[in-house]
Formats: sequence, structure tokens, C-alpha cells
Amino acid sequence: MDKIASQNLNEIWIGTEKFVPYITEEQIQKRVEELGKEISSDYKAKLPIFIGVLNGSFMFMSDLMKQITINCEVDFFKLSSYGDAKISSGKVKLIKDLNADITDRHIIIVEDIVDTGLSIKYIEKLISAHNPASMKVASLLVKEDSIKYDVKIDYIGFRIPNKFVIGYGLDYAQKYRNLKSIYVLSE
Ligand code: IMP
Repeated sequence: MDKIASQNLNEIWIGTEKFVPYITEEQIQKRVEELGKEISSDYKAKLPIFIGVLNGSFMFMSDLMKQITINCEVDFFKLSSYGDAKISSGKVKLIKDLNADITDRHIIIVEDIVDTGLSIKYIEKLISAHNPASMKVASLLVKEDSIKYDVKIDYIGFRIPNKFVIGYGLDYAQKYRNLKSIYVLSE
């Protein structure tokens, strides 16, 4: 399908699957602004490092950073994710490690979505090994009913049911990340 990114489409067809609007650009931006304010207030004078988990978090990370009003630093992990399917492979692999020295630093992990919690658990383990001063997690979306691992998400954009979503960084077979809003698979 052509020209998806700039449109407010009422539906997106991927083969025989229909996706419909779920969270609008305005709703996302409003919530990201609120999260930015909350985090800025919580980390006053702490010089936190925001660690984005690529690829999915790039849009949320970018918008969130614009709402942070305190000094901070930014770095990224890259994990292999779903591959090209809608179902998690249940495996995580580190593709790009951090550049920053995070020992004794205040870390905020930035995720697009927490599904089973496996990715966050994996990242928390990697970060803990470097003895940070503190570690919290911000995720735009959380599928609370899907979480299988013992993880705590400190800053949540939206709690959503266990349904597959695309847009605003989230992909289906690597596509649709560039949509400005979030669409959900219609049943
Ligand atoms: P978890 O490790 O099971 O928590 O899954 C987290 C990762 O799975 C996210 O960073 C996404 O890359 C991917 N993911 C989970 N749910 C969805 C979805 O509904 N749409 C697109 N990607 C998803």
C-alpha cells in the first residue's frame, strides 16, 4: 500500500488482516508529554541516561527526549525481536551493545512495548552487571495480561489488551514503523 505514513487511514490491510485506528497521534503526544514531565521531575539533578531498545523504541524515544527538561544522556541497545512474525520467538539476542559507561549512573530503559517481559528482563540483567546507581523502565505500551516474567514497568504510556499493534515504531515484518499513530489488528 502506498502513502500510508502521512494519512489518517481508517483501515490498513496486510494480506487478509485488517488493522484499525487504536491510539491517535494526539493521544500519544499528550501522554508522552505527561511522561516527560513526570520523569524530568523525578530525575532533577541526576543526569540520567536514557537507553532505548532498538528498533521499536526509536519514535517514542525521540518524542520523549523532546519532553525531558533536565540534562540527560542517550544510548541504545539493539535486540533481535520477533523476526518477521506476530508471535514472539521466545528468544532474545543482543545485536548492538551500549557505548556509554553506565556504572553508578541512573538508567531509564525506554521500550516501545512490553509483551511477555522477556526483552526487559534480558536488558535489566545486562545493565545490572555494570552496577548502575539505579534502573527504571519506561514503556509506551504494556500488555499486562501477557507478562510472564517478573518485571516492573515504572513509567507506562498505555496499558493495552493482548492484541497485535503496529505503528509509531512498532512493526509487522519490519514495516509500518513510520505510522504516526497506533493501529490494532481487528478481529
Ligand atoms: P517481550 O520481550 O515479549 O516483552 O516483547 C517485546 C518486543 O516484542 C517489543 O520490543 C516488540 O519489538 C515486540 N512486540 C511485542 N508485541 C508487539 C506488537 O503488538 N506489535 C509489534 N511488536 C510487538
